Amino acid sequence: MTAKNFLYAQSGGVTPVINASAAGIMHTARQYPELGAVYAARNGIIGVLREELFDTTSMLDEQVMALRHTPGGTFGSCRYKLKGVAESRAEYERLIEVFKAHDIGIFFYNGGGDSADTAFKISQMGTQLGFPIQCIGVPKTIDNDLPITDVCPGFPTVAKYVAIATMEASLDVMSMSASSTKVFILEVMGRHAGWIAAAAGLAQRQSGDAPQLILFPEISFDQPAFLQRVQRSVTEHGYCTVVVSEGVRDDTGKFLSDSGVRDAFGHAQLGGVAPRIAALIKGELGHKCHWAVADYLQRSARHIASRVDVEQAWAVGRAAVEFAAAGESGVMPVIERVSSKPYQWRIAKAQLSAMANQEKLMPRTFIDASGFAITQACRDYLAPLIAGEDYPPYRDDGLPDYLRPGQCPLLPQKLAKWTKTE
Ligand code: F6P
Repeated sequence: MTAKNFLYAQSGGVTPVINASAAGIMHTARQYPELGAVYAARNGIIGVLREELFDTTSMLDEQVMALRHTPGGTFGSCRYKLKGVAESRAEYERLIEVFKAHDIGIFFYNGGGDSADTAFKISQMGTQLGFPIQCIGVPKTIDNDLPITDVCPGFPTVAKYVAIATMEASLDVMSMSASSTKVFILEVMGRHAGWIAAAAGLAQRQSGDAPQLILFPEISFDQPAFLQRVQRSVTEHGYCTVVVSEGVRDDTGKFLSDSGVRDAFGHAQLGGVAPRIAALIKGELGHKCHWAVADYLQRSARHIASRVDVEQAWAVGRAAVEFAAAGESGVMPVIERVSSKPYQWRIAKAQLSAMANQEKLMPRTFIDASGFAITQACRDYLAPLIAGEDYPPYRDDGLPDYLRPGQCPLLPQKLAKWTKTE
């Protein structure tokens, strides 16, 4: 294989462990001296178009390892849609120009379904434009909605955070419920897929435990049945914890929490369904409610990471380099479950074309007949993913010792400025 440099880019919503995949890539690439340098795009594909590329060769090995326990996306991410070559030919030509200028032969795109689509298009267009690029996808998304892979890196840590937050907040509302708050509502992310909401169900160790109700995007919101069950829980247990997915819809398919804002991929910005549910309960049942929107707190909760998640995020990064070194292109390392009890997994290979633009929703068999709880099959799937801890190191000031962004310089630019994304 000719010595060509690697380019790594992060894409879409970040996760608590996306940097662990970056670390897996950088650490592994350093074990192959015959391969080139690893560059990292600033803010994803936008940074490639703008020729803003970090030279990670100056990062010390300890800094690479510190990425493994640092949340956020250290190099910056983006939501930016590359259209088909017919509509966006200038962008593809520019990408290839940047790849050529910096002798980049391998492109790692760390993202979800939209990013798999982008990486797939780049691999096709590179060939068509006479500069073949090995494109390797690296999976991540807290939504856990990628096809083929058993689990998406990022999801298990969010699942662990949401399950623990549900358990802890429920102990609080239980304490207050005799004279004050009777209902706690936690809103979680997940867009069209209820995986994160389902994970809150892990907090329920015995029948009657919180969360008493989960609202999934896969089940249209049945207001009378919901209110009846909230009241039943308050009557039986004195309180009620509700976990609601941001993607819950009414029976016409309309999001209860659509803010009206759309991103570059046309996805609605969601958020704010918890206060609506709280107002409904207060108005119809008269109970005092507290609510929380977990929002970016769940997506960045590296302090309570699942050990399985960190190991898998690192492993897909390492496998991406191994695939590249073996000359692969248009593929993505994915997680294959070998067994649930004991939990065993391994890396498998998927085609990017099969990963692109598809959403894996919760199977109906994972939601119980009432539509408000998870089944044992779902619990069996989820339980091993949150096992084990991987705490970040802490400093004397009591805060985690996270790597600060900006640890490496940008490469000198060689091309004319690109202003079309500004
Ligand atoms: O990456 C997935 C996700 O976290 C969704 O769960 C959420 O709806 C969305 O991203 C939020 O995206 P942004 O940070 O771009 O508003």
